[in-house]
Amino acid sequence: MPTLSVIKADVGGYVGHADVHPDLMVRAAESLDKAKADGLLIDCQVQHVGDDIALVMTHEQGEDAEPIHKLAWDTFLAVTKVARELKMYGAGQDLLSDAFSGNIKGMGPGSAEVEFEERTSEPVIIFLADKTEPGAWNLPLYKIFCDPFNTAGLVIDPKMHAGFEVEVHDVMENKRVVFSCPEELYDLLVFIGAQTRYVIKRVRQKDSGVTAAVTSTDRLNLIAGRYVGKDDPVLIVRCQSGLPAVGEVLEPWANPHLVFGWMRGSHSGPLMPCPMDNATPARFDGPPRVVGMGYQIANGRLIGPRDMLGDISFDRAREKALETTDYMRSMGPFEPHRLPPEDMEYTTLPLVTERLEGRFEDLPG
Ligand code: F6R
Ligand code: MG
Ligand code: MG
Repeated sequence: MPTLSVIKADVGGYVGHADVHPDLMVRAAESLDKAKADGLLIDCQVQHVGDDIALVMTHEQGEDAEPIHKLAWDTFLAVTKVARELKMYGAGQDLLSDAFSGNIKGMGPGSAEVEFEERTSEPVIIFLADKTEPGAWNLPLYKIFCDPFNTAGLVIDPKMHAGFEVEVHDVMENKRVVFSCPEELYDLLVFIGAQTRYVIKRVRQKDSGVTAAVTSTDRLNLIAGRYVGKDDPVLIVRCQSGLPAVGEVLEPWANPHLVFGWMRGSHSGPLMPCPMDNATPARFDGPPRVVGMGYQIANGRLIGPRDMLGDISFDRAREKALETTDYMRSMGPFEPHRLPPEDMEYTTLPLVTERLEGRFEDLPG
């Protein structure tokens, strides 16, 4: 059974936090190609969104496999060396540890992995986002797997009619809960509407238990205990034949929802769908961006990517995102453009407020 692993990290930005320098992409590809030649990987690609490199790998090692995680870690270390030579911005920023300890989780990089029985035809879409956090996938995943106004198959396709199981992680308390939908939709929404804390990790087809979607839930700043950068997330969705159609998986991106993580990890703004060759944040280090890479997986080989969100049918979403950008930016340092205090705790703001603590005096009476 093949496993698809997507492991991402920001190991140096070009220029600032906008993009990845081509030399870094080349170094990453060399490392993965060697692992493919050695037989560890079936196939591999190096992709990026904004300043984040995504290692897209297929293999037979299963999820959470040490050799794959070590390969990703060693690759990011090798790329960091190049980033340091070129004095890329924030070189090595997402690598929080000096020594690899068996699994990349908790070490900085984000990972989404799915082991699956390859179907007669296996269409998969990998979404990568920059300047946001894993909870940014909650709303689109809800629409794809729980909302019949988005996904016609929930009504029409007998294989989808029973619904899906949604696994939610509490990333603050390190707990998980599974909701069976549609019966528990309202319970699910109690939590996933608070996307900074409650993050959808996995969606399974209810009848078969087959994984339909998986996300990276790694929270860099919670791991580090200080502001390092945003946990720019990955989402893998398997499509068609009893799972949502490709078009149903793309539909949520027609409306750019507001997400957290823009500029200094401290602002909310619209998640703008982008063509893959335009995935480079600019205005106010943003706005937050998402790309969709479509693959047909054939005996573990990655046939693709097709640029799924570059299509003309998302032009109006881009336009709406830009209008929303103007509107949100007009708020400047005021909430809700600036994030609420509990989310600002993981930014550099506390370093400023600390200095002003002595200025407060008790009110009389
Ligand atoms: C990084 C990000 C950027 C930076 C900003 C300040 O992912 O979102 O907006 O936070 O460019 O960066 P520093 O503090 O490194 O100067
Ligand atoms: Mg960066
Ligand atoms: Mg980034």
